[in-house]
Amino acid sequence: MKFISQIENLTPYVAGTPIEVVAEAYGLDRVVKLASNESPLPPFPEVLEVITGKFESLNRYPDAEARQLRAALAERYAVDPGQVILGNGSCELLIWLSLIFLEPGTEAVFSDPTFLVYEEVTLARGARAVKVPLRDFANDLEALAAAVNERTRLVFLTNPHNPTGSYLPAADIAAFAARLPDSCALVLDEAYNEYVEEPDSQGGLELFRANANVIVIRTFSKIYGLCGLRVGYGLCAPAVKEAVDKVRQPFNINTLAQAAALKALSLEKRLEERRSLNLAGRRQLYEGFDGLGIGYIPTQSNFMLVEIDQLAVAAADVPEELLRRGVIVRDGAALGCPGYMRVSAGTPSENEFLLAKLAELK
Ligand SMILES: Cc1ncc(COP(=O)(O)O)c(C=O)c1O
Repeated sequence: MKFISQIENLTPYVAGTPIEVVAEAYGLDRVVKLASNESPLPPFPEVLEVITGKFESLNRYPDAEARQLRAALAERYAVDPGQVILGNGSCELLIWLSLIFLEPGTEAVFSDPTFLVYEEVTLARGARAVKVPLRDFANDLEALAAAVNERTRLVFLTNPHNPTGSYLPAADIAAFAARLPDSCALVLDEAYNEYVEEPDSQGGLELFRANANVIVIRTFSKIYGLCGLRVGYGLCAPAVKEAVDKVRQPFNINTLAQAAALKALSLEKRLEERRSLNLAGRRQLYEGFDGLGIGYIPTQSNFMLVEIDQLAVAAADVPEELLRRGVIVRDGAALGCPGYMRVSAGTPSENEFLLAKLAELK
């Protein structure tokens, strides 16, 4: 047995610890998970109803083309269904894109730190990962543009950015995209787009419409509360979809996921409530941190970076101290932001719980 040489360069993705695991390990009655940028609310009841209605057809394979869901997304975004790609979570789309664009001798450019999967899929292809430091916790578009060369096939850009929550104006991203050579695709990862409170939040879509080499990626995992079912989608040029169809596994979106996402999309107007809840959560946390004298990076997303190097315990121990008190957060050090932790905005009660536990560490 001999693995491909790239395996040595890869590290497994470390995800947030599940609630049940923490509850059992520490013998806790209440555990609040604010580690994985999830929705604190369950899927809409209508979505749950649709899912249960599909149980009896699970002996059949799902529609390999996910026709209904792709048609609904195409209608939603006024594009052709041939411009819609689907993934088992947008993570899987990143794999498909790496398969069609990257190989040894090519390069992918992205920020450092950023969503960890970009580096994994790049290295797994034997391509070079060109990492560009953030500037003031935001993507440094000038430096990213300077890192692109004739070998660059992909630029991964996240807006709002993960793990910092920072947001770049659409006009700046358009100016950046205009500098990219045609041989390079821009993957604009908008996993948190629905949480953005800026007026230009749909600018990425305009950019996609105007440029064949721009691929916009979004997901049902966040504001729709469906991350457990895994559905992400991308809007792209028809040629990209045709290439993805050649490499993806045929039934990558399961029956329940297709039905749930389709229903969820039809309830889009109800996202407003969730957007408001998130905004209120952001404000509650800002105020709470201000009250405790703890710094944070203002966010346009459903999570934020919080300074933990001024507490009574060492920054490296804060996530563990919170864990044993029943709050799961993400250690910034593991995300490339030492001295910080990343927390998702939860329900008012969950946010209060976090603030109370944090106060104990002051
Ligand atoms: C920037 C970014 N992109 C993509 C994803 C993947 O989301 P999913 O695979 O659940 O659609 C995440 C998840 O946290 C993310 O932060």
